[in-house]
Amino acid sequence: MVPLILLINVLTWSLAIGQDTCDGTNSVFPCDAGQDTCMRRKYGKDQYVCVCDSSYCDDLGPLPDTSDGKVTIYETTRDGLRFRKNYVYKGQSSLTEPTVKTKKKFTIKVKRDEKHQSIWGFGGAFTDSTGINLRYLNDTLAAHVINDYYSPQGIGYSVGRVPVGGTDFSDRPYTYNDDHVDDLEQTNFTLAQDDDLYKIPYIKQAQKLNGNLKLLASAWSPPAWMKSSNSISKRGTLKSSDVYYKSWAKYYAKFFTEYKKKGIEFWGLTSGNEPVASYIHSSFNGLTFTPGSLRDFIRDSLAPELAKAGFPLQEKLKLLVLDDQLAVVLAWLGKVYGDEATHSLVSGIAFHWYLNFMTPNFVYSLIHKWYPDQLLISTEACEGYRMILDPHKVILGDWGRGENYASDIINDLNHGVHGWIDWNMALDPSGGPNWADNKVDSPIIVNKTANEYYRQPMFYSMAHIAKFLPPNSVRLGSKGSHGGVDYTVFQTPDNNIAVIILNKSKDTINLTVAAAYGKDVTWQIKPKSLTTIYGKAS
Ligand SMILES: *[C@@H]1O[C@H](CO)[C@@H](O)[C@H](O)[C@H]1NC(C)=O
Ligand SMILES: *[C@@H]1O[C@H](CO)[C@@H](O)[C@H](O)[C@H]1NC(C)=O
Ligand SMILES: *[C@@H]1O[C@H](CO)[C@@H](O)[C@H](O)[C@H]1NC(C)=O
Ligand SMILES: *[C@@H]1O[C@H](CO)[C@@H](O)[C@H](O)[C@H]1NC(C)=O
Ligand SMILES: *[C@@H]1O[C@H](CO)[C@@H](O)[C@H](O)[C@H]1NC(C)=O
Repeated sequence: MVPLILLINVLTWSLAIGQDTCDGTNSVFPCDAGQDTCMRRKYGKDQYVCVCDSSYCDDLGPLPDTSDGKVTIYETTRDGLRFRKNYVYKGQSSLTEPTVKTKKKFTIKVKRDEKHQSIWGFGGAFTDSTGINLRYLNDTLAAHVINDYYSPQGIGYSVGRVPVGGTDFSDRPYTYNDDHVDDLEQTNFTLAQDDDLYKIPYIKQAQKLNGNLKLLASAWSPPAWMKSSNSISKRGTLKSSDVYYKSWAKYYAKFFTEYKKKGIEFWGLTSGNEPVASYIHSSFNGLTFTPGSLRDFIRDSLAPELAKAGFPLQEKLKLLVLDDQLAVVLAWLGKVYGDEATHSLVSGIAFHWYLNFMTPNFVYSLIHKWYPDQLLISTEACEGYRMILDPHKVILGDWGRGENYASDIINDLNHGVHGWIDWNMALDPSGGPNWADNKVDSPIIVNKTANEYYRQPMFYSMAHIAKFLPPNSVRLGSKGSHGGVDYTVFQTPDNNIAVIILNKSKDTINLTVAAAYGKDVTWQIKPKSLTTIYGKAS
C-alpha cells in the first residue's frame, strides 16, 4: 500500500504546487476552484473514504470569503467527489467540465421575509470509545480528528454531548460510585480514569477551537445499588424510596462540580438517556422512568439538588427532557409539561433518530404548537444500529448511510428542529469498542494498525450542513417548483445564505436559486449528490 499512497501524495502535492502558481490574473476565481483534496480509497462499488495518515491529511478549509459577491458551491457525490469547491461570479462559473443534457430542472425561490427557527448547534458525542480510538492514533492525527469536527478549518461543530460515566461505548460497564453500596450522599463519587484519558483532553481541545462550545451531559445508568434490578445493564428504575431519587440528583450535582474543578463547564443536561428504550432492551447501561416519575424527579430532586450545588436550572444549566425516540414523545410530554412547576424548569425536548422512519412529520408540528417556547434537538443518531437488518456494523464508504444522515437532518430542520448531535465521533473498523456488543458505524473510522483514519460520506453530510449553519442562523421560507429533492435554506448571522440540496435520484438536475444572491445562480445538481451553495445575501 505504501508506494501507492506515496504516489497519490506526490500527485496531490504537485497539484497543489501547480495551483500555488495561480496568481489570479487570468481568472476571476480563486486558485482552489475545482479543487477536491480527498485522498480517496475505494472499498467497493461506490464506496469511497478519504484517508488521513501521518503523511497526508487534508482540511475542509475555512468558510469562503463572500464579501465580493462570489457564490461558492460545494459538491459531494456517490461517484467520489468530496467537498469539491467551485464558484459562480456575475453569471460566470468556474466549472470546467462540460454540462450534461437533462430534462429535469428545478427552481428554489427564496422567501427572505419568511423566517423560521434559529440554529442552536451541531455536534458529536465524546464517548469513551471515541477517546479510546483517538488514543490509538499518533497525537498529531488524533488532534486532526478533533480539528475535523470542531475547528473552523473542519466542520466547526458548536456542541458536544458528554456521557455522565460509562455507556455501552466504553470498555466495561461502570459508574462513578460502584463500590460504596448505599452511599446515598454520594460521598465517594469519583470520576473515572476514563474521563482523564478518553474524554477531558478531547473536550478541552474542542473548547480551544470553539470558545462558545455548548456541552450537554447525559447519564446512562446510576450505580447498580441504586436500581431496582441491582445491575447497570439490566432494565430497572431507581429504587422506589425517595432517598434514591435525591441521591441520583446528588450524583448529577457531583458530576458538574467535579468537571468544573477540571475547568469544564456545561451548557446543560438531558434528563437521562433513553428512559423508554431502556425498558425495551435490557443489555446495556440504562435507567427507566415513567413520565410521572420523571416529572417528580425533576421537580422534587434534580432541580433542588443542582441549585444547592450552585447549578440552578435555567440560570446555570438548561434541562432537556426525553432524550429518547420522538415516536413516544406525545405520550410523555403531557405529564412533564402539564405540571407548571416542572415546565418552568425545562428548556427543551431531546430526541433520538432511531424510530424517525415511523414518526410522521406532524409530530414536530404538534410539539411546536403545544410547546412553542421549547428547543427541539436531535441528540443521538448513527447508522448500522439495526440488529438483523445491519449485519455489517461498519460499511466503509457507504453512500446510502451518508444520504440518510443528510436526509434526516434536512427533514428535521425543515420541521423546526434547532440542533442535531451525532453519536460516536470515531470508532474502529468493527464499530467499537462496545462492551455490550452493540456496535455501530461512525463518520470517522480509526485504523490503529495503519495509524490512519477514514472520513466516510456521513462525515461529509455533516460538513455540507453544519459547517454553513452556525448558531443563530435562521431558516428562511422558500418555494420550490419541483418536489423531488430534499433541500433547506438558511440565512447566517453574518448575512450569508446557505442552500443545501440532497438529490437521491440518479438524474442530473438544472437548479436555479432565485432571490438570494442578487443575480440568480444556476447549477447542475449531480445524480446522487449533496450540494451546498453559499454566498452573501443581496
Ligand atoms: C439544463 O442545462 C443544460 C446546460 O445548460 C441545457 O443544455 C439543458 O437544456 C437544460 N435542461 C433543462 C430542462 O433546462
Ligand atoms: C505523528 O507522525 C508524524 C509523521 O510520522 C510526525 O511528523 C509527528 O511528529 C507525529 N506526531 C507526534 C505527536 O508524535
Ligand atoms: C467512602 O469510602 C471510604 C473508603 O473506602 C469508606 O471508608 C467510607 O465508608 C465510604 N463512605 C460511604 C458513605 O460509603
Ligand atoms: C487497516 O490497516 C491494515 C494495515 O495497513 C490493513 O491491513 C487493513 O486492511 C486496514 N483496515 C481497513 C479496514 O482498511
Ligand atoms: C431527486 O431525488 C428524489 C429522491 O429523493 C427523486 O424523487 C427525484 O425525482 C429527484 N429529482 C429529480 C428532479 O430528478
